Amino acid sequence: RLNLGILISGRGSNMESLLNASVGEAYPAKPRLVIANKEGAPGLETARRFGVEAALIPHKQYNDRRAFEEALHETLTQHEIDIIALAGFMRVLTPWFVGKWEGRMVNIHPSLLPAYPGLDTHARAIEAGDSEAGCTVHWVSEGVDEGAIIGQSRVPVKAGDTPDSLAARVLIAEHELYPRALADACRMITAPSVR
Ligand code: GAR
Repeated sequence: RLNLGILISGRGSNMESLLNASVGEAYPAKPRLVIANKEGAPGLETARRFGVEAALIPHKQYNDRRAFEEALHETLTQHEIDIIALAGFMRVLTPWFVGKWEGRMVNIHPSLLPAYPGLDTHARAIEAGDSEAGCTVHWVSEGVDEGAIIGQSRVPVKAGDTPDSLAARVLIAEHELYPRALADACRMITAPSVR
C-alpha cells in the first residue's frame, strides 16, 4: 500500500471520506499523516480520532511560500509519503513544490473542470444558469485546477438552489468520488518514489 499524506485547511470532510475508505487493507493507500496549514482546522482532531498522525504547519509562521513549502516537503518525506491528497487545502502551491510531487499529488475541486477553476464555484454555476454541477479529482500540475482529470461526478442544479444548497449536494458526490478516484490514481503510480 502507498503511504498517503492528506493536506487540509479546515473541516476535513473529504479527508474523513478518505480515512473511512482506507480502513480496509484492500485499499491501495494507507493514511500516514494529515497536515493542516491553518491553526484550529477541525480536521486535525478528526484525523487523530482515526488514529492518524496530524500535524499543524501554519503557513503564517513562515516568511514566504518557499519556506512554508520546504517545511511541508520535509515533513512529508520524513514520513515516507508516496502520494498526497489535497482535501480542501486552500493554499496555492508553487511550481517548486508541484515539481517535487508531480504525478504523486491529487486534488478534489468542487466543479466540473475545466469549468470554474478557483473559488466560488457554486455561485458561478448558479449565476451561469447551469443545469448540472459536480466535482473533479485531478492530478496537480503547475496551473491551478488544470491537471489531468482522474474522475468526475455530476449532480443536478435545482430550481431555487443557493450556493450553500448546491455545495451540500456536490459535497455528497465528493465524498463518494474521492476515495474511488484516489484508488484509481494509486493504481496509475507504478514507478518507485522519485524525490
Ligand atoms: C470541498 O468542497 C472541496 O472540494 C473544496 O473545499 C471543500 C473542503 O471541504 N476545495 C476547494 O475549493 C479547493 N480549491 P472539506 O474540508 O470538508 O473537505
